[in-house]
Amino acid sequence: MFSERTVTDSGEVFHDGLMMPPHVPVMADEVTLFLADGKKEGLLVDGTAGVGGHLSRLLRALPGMEFLAVDRDPAAVSILRSRFGDETRVTVRHASYSEIPRILDEMRLGPASAALFDLGLSSLQLDDPSRGFSHRCDGPLDMRFDGTEGDTAARLVNGLPEKELADIIYRFGQEGRSRRIAEAIVRNRPVTGSRELADIVGSVVRGRPVKVLSRVFQALRIAVNDEMEQLDTLLGGLHLWTGPGARIAFITFHSLEDRRIKLLFRDDPSYRENSPRWLVPGEEEMERNSRARSARLRMGIRT
Ligand SMILES: C[S@@+](CC[C@H](N)C(=O)[O-])C[C@H]1O[C@@H](n2cnc3c(N)ncnc32)[C@H](O)[C@@H]1O
Repeated sequence: MFSERTVTDSGEVFHDGLMMPPHVPVMADEVTLFLADGKKEGLLVDGTAGVGGHLSRLLRALPGMEFLAVDRDPAAVSILRSRFGDETRVTVRHASYSEIPRILDEMRLGPASAALFDLGLSSLQLDDPSRGFSHRCDGPLDMRFDGTEGDTAARLVNGLPEKELADIIYRFGQEGRSRRIAEAIVRNRPVTGSRELADIVGSVVRGRPVKVLSRVFQALRIAVNDEMEQLDTLLGGLHLWTGPGARIAFITFHSLEDRRIKLLFRDDPSYRENSPRWLVPGEEEMERNSRARSARLRMGIRT
């Protein structure tokens, strides 16, 4: 399924012998400053540890802390294991962040003193054509974070009634031309590859379709991975496994996620908003890392 990967100690990833473009952690300085300004001991949970970009920064900044690194993607987990296997302060688990309460129970760990959730997907996932996340490369329409379970994007694209497909594109992609796009997809079934899907979407959109393509691919990815349900489960139980004073950071990449975190920290008495409540990357970071452009760091503190 996935090709051969090796990881160096500094986190460089080789894919079939070729070095992959690195995943650059978004707002790493701001995240580290916020989390390291809280408790210096106890447990920090990185619920979307990815390839460990933030984790390696936090390990250095918080030498007295233990870390639980969770990711839903088996490929990310194997990278985390090769990168942090020798680090006694890090425990790596393959799971969804919605399962963190169960993991902490099983390990008799917690409550956590800090938590980080860097939502969305990593550059390694986006840039790997075999995952089907990007409209810029050609590959099978998979889009599952965990390729061992659930329906692929191809199943949704080829199997859903046109109206349901349009609803997904509208709801999760916030794309106004959802009906026209869904109608074109259904007319061209079966659609098997990401390039084919991009061409179909491009054929019904005038002008530069890049934004529309990003929205359609985002919508399908969110639906394939039940991302909103996963996030709602996480947010609903977060107060149960974080201790008083715990610092909690979320990096969000679209308003559907961001609004949920905003309301949680603003309205739920289990939290208070940090001051500032949120930050966006500086111009220099946005220039250097295109993934950072739509990011927002939301910060809350458990009461
Ligand atoms: C933006 S990347 C994180 C990158 C990481 N902070 C780093 O610096 O390497 C997001 C990660 O979240 C993971 N992910 C997405 N949904 C998840 C879920 N429900 N539970 C756990 N991990 C999830 C993805 O597999 C991906 O590796």
